[in-house]
Amino acid sequence: MGQIKFITDFDDQFYYNKKVFVRVDFNVKVQDNVVSEDYRIRSAVPTIEYLVKRGAKVILGTHLDRPKGKDYRFSLRPVSKKLAEILTAFDARVTFSEDCIGSETNKMVNNMKNGEVLLLENLRFYPEEEINDENFSAALSSYADVYINDAFSTSHRKHSSTYGVAKFFDYRIAGFNLAQELQYLSLLRERPANPFTLVIGGVKIKDKIGALDHLLPKADKVLIGGAASYTFLKAKGYSVGESIIEEDYLPWVTKALQAHREKIILPIDHKVAPSEKSDHYQIIQTDIPKGMRGYDIGDKTIQKFSYEIHNNGLGTIFWNGPMGYFEKEIFSNGTKSVAVSMALAYWRGVKTLIGGGDTLEAMKVSGVSEKEVTHVSTGGGATLRFLAGDEMPGIDVLKNY
Ligand code: ADP
Ligand code: 3PG
Ligand code: MG
Repeated sequence: MGQIKFITDFDDQFYYNKKVFVRVDFNVKVQDNVVSEDYRIRSAVPTIEYLVKRGAKVILGTHLDRPKGKDYRFSLRPVSKKLAEILTAFDARVTFSEDCIGSETNKMVNNMKNGEVLLLENLRFYPEEEINDENFSAALSSYADVYINDAFSTSHRKHSSTYGVAKFFDYRIAGFNLAQELQYLSLLRERPANPFTLVIGGVKIKDKIGALDHLLPKADKVLIGGAASYTFLKAKGYSVGESIIEEDYLPWVTKALQAHREKIILPIDHKVAPSEKSDHYQIIQTDIPKGMRGYDIGDKTIQKFSYEIHNNGLGTIFWNGPMGYFEKEIFSNGTKSVAVSMALAYWRGVKTLIGGGDTLEAMKVSGVSEKEVTHVSTGGGATLRFLAGDEMPGIDVLKNY
């Protein structure tokens, strides 16, 4: 298999007057027609700016959410507004095409001037996108001379715009976002600088098993909080009351505990309540009684986790998954403390990496900025799959020269 070509592997003249189709991942949070979280959009800006400044015509394609056909609640119009706002910084004109294929879109592409940006409507308005339909891929490819993938977070999908379309191009290239994700996440996956501390929380152990299988043997310390910790505590024989657990994964968890007992650190106290609607909590050490659910790690656990993060020295820390039901203020302390400890570790020189949509949100809620983290991955599922060593069709297709 060949090498990946990066955007800077071509000279500046290469992009001049060329139509470049860039697969971005602008699958962002939109509330009341306004983009409420724009990290993924900002992550694609270096690639867009680079192309605009070299006189390319930049055609951007992305999905938003998982619409069934043309459902305009999932239109990219609000995203195009946000993008235009961000791109005013270097005077790039952004237009929006109300479809992603068809004669109108074709016309708009043909009328583009050098240095202009055109955002296409949601690619998933056509079911052909997700089944990697050959004709749909051909239609998308007809717009451009060059294909760039700058959407790491959707590269685990074998869809038309992430995979099928690339095969129609002689030039298929990795953009800056993809390159940066590959650089940091490959290091994390293959040879993280030790000491290596893993901080795992959130829900759905199921989605994280592959990544954990790969990372647990490399880790020196593994801190497990959030809902994920109750399956581990249950496997160790503690009562967890009505806390969220994943019964089906108890055997995997039991094995992981046996193999890595000395490095896995579980909560020693919990904030519990009868339901997420409760406005009060109790602090419980060890066993959680019947009728109660754990919603956050307790203060002793916070101290222990903060100490372990501090104790990392000059290695690597990867954090995925909030420490509790942080969306509710009274259960957000554990998550906020971990976020702040991560920022302090970064300032001390530790390589810190964060992955996961909710973890990114949690970091923001905690007042920690992306600049206080070595690398914030744009990926959710893609990051976990990549760390597990799974196939990434959107990346592999770039190697196929
Ligand atoms: P990410 O998107 O960062 O990978 P996950 O999707 O795995 O993270 O988990 C995030 C969700 O987990 C959040 O919505 C958070 O409220 C929830 N969560 C974490 N701990 C608990 C808990 N103890 N009880 C209920 N929900 C929890
Ligand atoms: C994501 O949000 O993880 C990516 O945009 C992929 O979205 P999908 O899981 O709907 O394919
Ligand atoms: Mg999530």
